[in-house]
Amino acid sequence: MKKTTEIIKINPKKFKKEQIEWLGQEIKNGKTVVFPTETVYGLGANALDEKAVVKIFQAKGRPSDNPLIIHIAKKKQLNQVAKKASRIAQRLMDKFWPGPLTLILKKKAQINLKVSGGLQTVAVRMPRNKIARELIIASKVPIAAPSANTSGRPSPTQATHAIEDLKGKVDYIIDAGKTQLGLESTVVDTTSKKVKILRHGTITEKEIEAVVGQTIGNNKREGKIHRSPGTRYKHYAPKCQMVIIKGPKNKVFQDIERRTKREEKQGRTVGIICFEKHSHCAQIVEFAGTGNKERGQNIFRILRNFDHKKTDIVFCEAIEEQGIGTAIMDRLKRAANNKIRTIR
Ligand code: TXA
Ligand code: MG
Repeated sequence: MKKTTEIIKINPKKFKKEQIEWLGQEIKNGKTVVFPTETVYGLGANALDEKAVVKIFQAKGRPSDNPLIIHIAKKKQLNQVAKKASRIAQRLMDKFWPGPLTLILKKKAQINLKVSGGLQTVAVRMPRNKIARELIIASKVPIAAPSANTSGRPSPTQATHAIEDLKGKVDYIIDAGKTQLGLESTVVDTTSKKVKILRHGTITEKEIEAVVGQTIGNNKREGKIHRSPGTRYKHYAPKCQMVIIKGPKNKVFQDIERRTKREEKQGRTVGIICFEKHSHCAQIVEFAGTGNKERGQNIFRILRNFDHKKTDIVFCEAIEEQGIGTAIMDRLKRAANNKIRTIR
């Protein structure tokens, strides 16, 4: 059934608490609200209300075994959602909260298994975005919120993306412009002795290692790479085919030119994602920036643009998997369904 979605513009630099007070009340009463965080927009509902949580899964078309992140504004709210955190988890909170870090902790019984996708653990994050914080405080409850996109589509870095996917499916969408970071939070599992990164983000592996005092790597020695349930699914994908080209720069540029010409000859619309300013020629050339910070901010918007422009195929330069580059390449690889061509 189609809902009426109210879109509410809020100036992130100049808003009054009262402006979001009632939205907090609406969350408490079981409504769904799209709100900005410093990473991406989230689709929030009262984490303690099973019916409200079910609405999130329905609006996104999200598989029920893919758990949600619970957002809190103050440390004392942690008691409501998770059992006592380990010393390492405490250290990570002290260093990175509020901010783009999600911790996997042991779940409190009162958190419904619908929130945790059937797991006995729960993902918790304390965002630093002011509107998000005020909304959580006003609601007086922890807020469950996945990224505010249709399942499988690129995460929303501006309200228009959430409107595109969720208008008619949620009660409210706050429009507060672009998000600051553009990549979702780093997800870290602290429920066993060996700390694991389940999803890379703008807080890097090195930064986590410096706090926990152990090397993380990708845990390959244990025989498998640990991942969040969510990373099993095809994700971030534009509707068209996408291929990542990896190798020495000049060869990559040449290869993309060659592929572009070939595709265009067959009448297909080609898109290119590049990370350096040089003269690629295709119908749609998207320059994502030379620094990783800027690239992180742009990448999801660019992936959505290819859909708007009805692109048939996208070629994307690979970047180095270092620092935030690891998170960016993770999103790109999943958008490309792991289709990578390596040139030597
Ligand atoms: O930056 C963010 O994290 C954004 C904003 C809105 O906070 N949220 C976000 O949520 O990206 P979502 O649902 O799109 O991604 C959450 C990820 C998924 O990959 C999910 O599988 C994983 O966290 N996750 C949640 N609970 C988990 C758990 N108990 N164990 C392992 N992974 C979990
Ligand atoms: Mg998501």
